[in-house]
Amino acid sequence: METEKKTQTQTNPMADRDLSEQIKKVTKENHIRAENTQLMLSFQRGQVTLPQYKLLLCSLHEIYQALEEELDRNSNHPSVAPIYFPTELARLESIEKDLEYFYGQNWREKIVVPAATKRYCHRLRQIGKENPEFLVGHAYTRYLGDLSGGQVLGRIAQKSMGLKSNEGLAFYSFPGVSSPNLFKQLYRSRMNSVELTEEQRTGVLEEAVRAFEFNIQVFDDLQKMLSVTENQLQNCSTHSKTVKSPQLPGNINTSPLIRVVLGLFVALATVSIGIYIL
Ligand code: HEM
Repeated sequence: METEKKTQTQTNPMADRDLSEQIKKVTKENHIRAENTQLMLSFQRGQVTLPQYKLLLCSLHEIYQALEEELDRNSNHPSVAPIYFPTELARLESIEKDLEYFYGQNWREKIVVPAATKRYCHRLRQIGKENPEFLVGHAYTRYLGDLSGGQVLGRIAQKSMGLKSNEGLAFYSFPGVSSPNLFKQLYRSRMNSVELTEEQRTGVLEEAVRAFEFNIQVFDDLQKMLSVTENQLQNCSTHSKTVKSPQLPGNINTSPLIRVVLGLFVALATVSIGIYIL
């Protein structure tokens, strides 16, 4: 084992120091958890519904708006400049196109996001001001994700929602990237070229873990909102409203059987109270 480790280091002495390798390693467990959130599982099973997808897009809009505004503002910062690829990666405009497709021209008035999305955006704006180098961890988490599993998810979404061609799916399309794999290689090499002190490097790695956790919290909050208020949300039209997710215990939100039993219980109780009053 020890000899194997030595040989690897001898072949590529810098491999262990590469930010791209380290970041992938430290976020591995978080990636598995993100993939296994209820929302992402629905996605992968081809069960994503139109209300679910529309709601996800609203949160993605707020997240990319914050991320891209902070990247733009810090584009000359020595840690941000090497990974700044607005032409190839920027998602905000494509999300806005998709929102217009799904919600119509007055989509801005219909944006609804959960508290977790607000917290995520707040963090992005905070580090944009205080620690721009941490944006590397956030940009990695979103953009490399979009260029990896995101590409498969786009095709699944198209089928699940019965969309014609790529209507409403501009988010998944990267016209400035001809080969996602080659681009990811370039992006990783740019990440590795960022000069960081030990303390900053640790901070970036921790921030990438945090970025995954923010995404997981957003997915969980969206799932709760959808479980409880699926129909009401379609009619909601308050500008950039924060919806506090209902605090239901454990799996109650996600188990249809328990929801049916609870519904029956509430209906029975209502009828019993009515009979008692009579
Ligand atoms: C249904 C959910 C998901 C699936 C099926 C999925 C799948 C994948 C796959 C197949 C890869 C390529 C792995 C490789 O090249 O070694 C990947 C990479 C990646 N994914 Fe995901 N993913 C999902 C969700 C997410 C989420 C929610 C995020 C973050 C918000 C994310 C972030 C990333 C990142 C940053 C990478 C690049 C890893 C690296 O090469 O350093 N993924 N994903």
